[in-house]
Amino acid sequence: GSVSSAPKLITTHTKMADEVTVQKARFSDRVRIRSILGRPDGGAGLAGQKVRISGWVKTGREQGKGAFAFLEVNDGSCPANLQVMVDASVSDLSKLVATGTCVTVDGCLKIPPEGKGTKQKVELSVVEVIDVGTVDTATYPIPKTKLTLERLREFPHLRSRTNSISAIARIRHALAIATHTFFDEEGFLYIQTPIITTSDCEGAGEMFQVTTLISHTEKLERDLIENPPPTEADVEAARLIVKARGEAVAHLKSAKASKETITASVAELNEAKASLSRTEERSKLKPGLPKLDGKIDYTQDFFGRQAFLTVSGQLQVETYACGLSDVYTFGPTFRAENSHTSRHLAEFWMVEPELAFADLEDDMNCAEAYVRYMCKWLLEKRYDDMELMAKNFDKGCIDRLKLVASTPFGRLTYTKAIELLEEAVGKGKEFVNPVEWGIDLASEHERYLTEVVFQKPLIVYNYPKGIKAFYMRLNDDGKTVAAMDVLVPKVGELIGGSQREERIDVIMERIEEMGLPVEPYEWYLDLRRYGTAKHSGFGLGFERMVLFATGMDNIRDVIPFPRYPGRADL
Ligand code: 4AD
Ligand code: MG
Repeated sequence: GSVSSAPKLITTHTKMADEVTVQKARFSDRVRIRSILGRPDGGAGLAGQKVRISGWVKTGREQGKGAFAFLEVNDGSCPANLQVMVDASVSDLSKLVATGTCVTVDGCLKIPPEGKGTKQKVELSVVEVIDVGTVDTATYPIPKTKLTLERLREFPHLRSRTNSISAIARIRHALAIATHTFFDEEGFLYIQTPIITTSDCEGAGEMFQVTTLISHTEKLERDLIENPPPTEADVEAARLIVKARGEAVAHLKSAKASKETITASVAELNEAKASLSRTEERSKLKPGLPKLDGKIDYTQDFFGRQAFLTVSGQLQVETYACGLSDVYTFGPTFRAENSHTSRHLAEFWMVEPELAFADLEDDMNCAEAYVRYMCKWLLEKRYDDMELMAKNFDKGCIDRLKLVASTPFGRLTYTKAIELLEEAVGKGKEFVNPVEWGIDLASEHERYLTEVVFQKPLIVYNYPKGIKAFYMRLNDDGKTVAAMDVLVPKVGELIGGSQREERIDVIMERIEEMGLPVEPYEWYLDLRRYGTAKHSGFGLGFERMVLFATGMDNIRDVIPFPRYPGRADL
């Protein structure tokens, strides 16, 4: 490669309409297709430039009786394909045209001839084929014809080659960057909370256990079959050797033998003692998990205690909020709930801000501003991908983003929400789950409120304490807690949050009331014992946000490697 001097400014999109030189990817010889087709002029202003591009052939066809071939090439940088023309004099065309073939080519950008019905403002005329990764068309599972999303899930290692999955990947990326940008701009610090934890944040007992006991036990059991443990007779024999060698040492000492002879004999005795203790140790080995008083002995586990994958980073991030004020965590969370719905995953990502010196209303304002910021961000940065989603999956998804970006969310109490649902039932609306004050709102109720009644996102707050977690602040009515859920069309619950209970006596009472053990939460209670502060926070299910933005129907298609009951591929 050439030695370039000052690093070039890399812009990922547009704003270079009048630039005449093409932007090379900084860490490779190639030019990204986005930096050609993503320009406001569609790349026309680059005609005449020589570039190298790389990508995968979406469709290819030989034409003019094999005189030349057209390839639609995509490198993942944008939804659009670059049209690439290869002459038979340049390369063996039959190697290039199969869907899925990887090509790197040098060529010249040209304005395509008029009247061929092509939308392309520019195409590449190939001068030299640099590299080809061929495809066995007989077995390639991602053909040119569209597979259903469900079928594509069978190929998690190849599905990023498709238009839809790659558009979703770019949208997901954009939402992640929007998240970090929003919180950074608002003065929040990004805190990495642990993935392995020893406390259950939601107290719902839906945790995956992290243990090495099982694999150790299996290994031990195999080992015991190959090398059976010593018997009582073996132990006795080892004891006798120790005894004999002890006597030998005593004898040599009383016979005033030389120092060297005694030292050698003592060494033999020590060796026999070590062998005895190894034999005794091994003779105690038993198949099965280690037990103490009839229960599994976790002191022998990797961490010396029971450990789990986190269901939420909230409790840990609160410790930083109560010291650094505004913070957030963004990481994977895990729930071992046996849900087979299109809204639940066993492994999903959550964005959890925690705001010190903020009450429930501040919390709601933050959640609303954050969601609206993400919608605006997508409209600005990934409009081309949103157009693809609108065309292929959900006609209304762009309008929805615009609506959310521009309209304040509805807000109502849980009690009011129940009244509205009861009214609907009175007018003949049928729900599977009966409606009455005290129920946990089911997805059908949430979607009815946001899609039918309000037709926009809304925030329901002040839920009955009986259906919410122990850490939520008890309201003065003694019946409800300062909780809030953000509900959005298509998805239902997008965000769950609350003001936290900062009063030590009240929170201890809540822990007892809910039948939770106090001991594991002592460190959490310390935050209330020492310099307690009013604080609030929420958790946004990142995949639910991607669902909402893209209009996709199934959460399994908006995370690269979905995990759900029965499935954990790769
Ligand atoms: O409402 P949840 O359970 O709230 C918490 O975990 C709090 N500790 C958050 C906080 O206050 N810091 O979960 C938050 C969000 C839900 O609103 C939902 O969007 C998403 O996480 N979520 C799931 N997403 C996919 N699959 C699952 N199984 C989910 N469970 C919750
Ligand atoms: Mg919730």
